[in-house]
Amino acid sequence: MSYQVKVRGTDKTLSVGEDETILEAALEAGIDYPFGCQSGNCGACKSRLLAGEVEMSDYSEYALTDEERDQGQILACSSVPVADCDVVWLDLEETVQHAMQSLDCTVTAVEKATHDIVVLQLKAGSALAFSAGQYASLTLPGQPPRDFSMAGEPYGDTLEFHIRAIEDGQVSQAAQNIQVGDKVALSGPMGLAFLRELHTGPILAVAGGSGLAPIKSIVETALAKGLAQPITLYFGVRDERDLYLVEHFEGLAAKHGNFKFIPVLSEPTGETSRRTGFLHDAMRSDFTTMDGCKIYAAGPPPMVDAVRALAEDLKARTEDLHADPFYTVHELAEQGKS
Ligand SMILES: Cc1cc2nc3c(=O)[nH]c(=O)nc-3n(C[C@H](O)[C@H](O)[C@H](O)COP(=O)(O)OP(=O)(O)OC[C@H]3O[C@@H](n4cnc5c(N)ncnc54)[C@H](O)[C@@H]3O)c2cc1C
Ligand code: FES
Repeated sequence: MSYQVKVRGTDKTLSVGEDETILEAALEAGIDYPFGCQSGNCGACKSRLLAGEVEMSDYSEYALTDEERDQGQILACSSVPVADCDVVWLDLEETVQHAMQSLDCTVTAVEKATHDIVVLQLKAGSALAFSAGQYASLTLPGQPPRDFSMAGEPYGDTLEFHIRAIEDGQVSQAAQNIQVGDKVALSGPMGLAFLRELHTGPILAVAGGSGLAPIKSIVETALAKGLAQPITLYFGVRDERDLYLVEHFEGLAAKHGNFKFIPVLSEPTGETSRRTGFLHDAMRSDFTTMDGCKIYAAGPPPMVDAVRALAEDLKARTEDLHADPFYTVHELAEQGKS
């Protein structure tokens, strides 16, 4: 059994099979449908159902509020049609439309940033057009593909990635032994948690562990472009040994009066003069409202969820939250998304 789904704004009508989502069918048909997490968590694929009916699998309230659902909005990545439908994706503020590229890259530098994070520089045959905060799928030698976020500014022909070794993680462990000269296949860019350059309110850039990669890209790009509003980078890790690029960000703070860098240690083992506790608690003590702020968050899903809950609590607007939780492929599979 399949249903016909007309995608407004394109000349295509999709034939969507049983158990297939609208997003899956759209991407298969070559439509540039906006998407991010593909798991009902980011809201990037938010669409309006103009006619027909869909069944939606579990999704986050952040991605789609009850009010939006009541108004006829759906998440294309979580919607399986149960009738012929008419859909249109919502206009997203400053939607990026970088073409997906497949590039063969060579590792040009490898640096151990912490005991479990390696920073790689890759040189591609041609430049990758992306927006600060986006990610790509990397295939390391002899490994299955995994998503990693670009850490540098989106110019030039060198790409930077930060890869944290996960316990028993196949690719992230292999990445710790990668060598200069190794070949890496890249496919991207993807993701909608990218820097909104037209926004003029304060920017809260929030990173946990190697979540610093896309957040670094966002902060550096914002500063390089001369964005003048207050920009605060909260960097949450367990202990001192997990911090990296501290001098780099302290240097940026010394140079740019509108930029603040706040490392937060959740489990310090020794005396420290740094902020301590959970990242979201540190942020809560610094703000009474987040109304008008743009919040970018990346890193472990529980941390991103906590920041998201805080932002909602402090009245940030849903459309001002841009998050990339670093789900593993197994977590995505558990959610039935890969
Ligand atoms: C949008 C996005 C951007 C990302 N960006 C970055 C980044 O910039 N830097 C970064 O370090 N990471 C990033 N990640 C995470 C990254 O993609 C990988 O998920 C991570 O590196 C782990 O991959 P792995 O192959 O090492 O682990 P995997 O081998 O996939 O294993 C992950 C965990 O699952 C467990 N596991 C293994 N098999 C199973 C199973 N069958 N069932 C259940 N659990 C199992 C393992 O023990 C391990 O703890 C990003 C993820 C996303 C979604
Ligand atoms: S792609 Fe649908 S909610 Fe993220």
